[in-house]
This record gives sequence, C-alpha cells and structure tokens, in this order.
Amino acid sequence: MPTALYPGTFDPITFGHIDIVARAAKIFTRVIAVVADNPNKQVLFGTDERVEMARESLKGIDGVEVMQYSGLIVDCLQETDATAIIRGLRALSDVEYEFQMAFTNRNMNTAAETVFLMPSAEYTYLSSSMVKQIVALGGDVGSFVPPFVAGRLARRLKPS
Ligand code: COA
Repeated sequence: MPTALYPGTFDPITFGHIDIVARAAKIFTRVIAVVADNPNKQVLFGTDERVEMARESLKGIDGVEVMQYSGLIVDCLQETDATAIIRGLRALSDVEYEFQMAFTNRNMNTAAETVFLMPSAEYTYLSSSMVKQIVALGGDVGSFVPPFVAGRLARRLKPS
C-alpha cells in the first residue's frame, strides 16, 4: 500500500491523532500528516507551531512525515502521489461531517478515497478543544497529549 494523507488542523495534536497515525502506518508504507486549515476554525497555534508539535509527536513512527498545506486536500493528494485520505471516526456524531468531507473530496477528484480508522476506545471522546479547555481551567492533560505539547499549552493558556 503506498502513500496516505492524514489531514487535520492539529491545534494541537493529541494522543488520539497519534493513535490514528500509528494505525495508518501499519497499513500504508508512507503516511503524511498534513497540517491544514479549516476556514471555520480559529486556531490557538500558528501553522509552524502545529507542524513542529506534530513532527515531535510522530518522530518515533516509521514511514511518517509531516507537512503543511494551505490549499485543497485533493490537490495535495495529487502533488504527493497519495492514494488515500485517512480520517479518524471517533463516534457516530463524527459520521455526518466526515461523510460530507469525503463525498466533497471525491466529487472534486474521483480518485480521492477516504479511509476511516477507529482510534483506541480511550480516545473516543478526545478533541483538541477539550484539551485546550482543560488546560485553561488548570486541569491536567498528561493523559491526552505528549508532555511538550502540554507545556506549550500551559505557556499559552494558563493564567500566570
Ligand atoms: N483524536 C482526538 N481528536 C480527534 C481525532 C482523534 N483521533 N480525530 C479528530 N479529532 C478532533 C480534533 O482534535 C478536532 O477537535 P476540535 O474541533 O476540538 O479542534 C476535531 O476532531 C476535528 O478535527 P480535525 O480532524 O483536525 O478536522 P478539522 O475539521 O479541524 O479539519 C480539515 C478538517 C483540515 C481536514 C479540512 O478542513 C480540510 O481538508 N481542509 C483543507 C481544505 C480543503 O480541502 N477543504 C475541503 C474539504 S471537503
């Protein structure tokens, strides 16, 4: 199996995202985590910071790369010679939004196949927003994100 893209906002990357990448890397020889922008979202971290955190978090998984892309994912697919788009499906509530994206991508590029992977059960209800909220309220996110991501979140969000 050749290359797959795993696009996301990664604001910031969590153990849930890392879990999906690790699963994808067992199926595809090359997995590229694509730090992209969702125009409907206001991000806490700039693109370079999100890329840096993703690189650091994923460096131990063979066959994985991280890149930034600011255009359409279907264009990124062609530019990287990738054949699949990986998305994580956490709960039923993800399905509607994910299907909408998958069908839209396929409408734009008939070769764009989306492959859905399930994260480990412990990350089913994890999201980057939840992690940011916990840090902002002084909670511990050690079981949700790697330590250096937790450190960055604390510096950005914790009242001093
Ligand atoms: N573990 C933990 N959290 C997860 C997760 C997992 N396995 N999978 C998804 N999430 C969470 C994310 O943390 C994020 O949480 P948040 O909303 O609190 O930030 C949420 O689920 C969804 O995030 P993400 O997977 O990053 O999707 P997104 O909606 O933020 O980004 C893009 C979607 C970037 C992939 C999409 O907008 C895109 O492709 N953009 C490029 C432009 C383009 O091609 N647009 C047309 C698309 S049809």
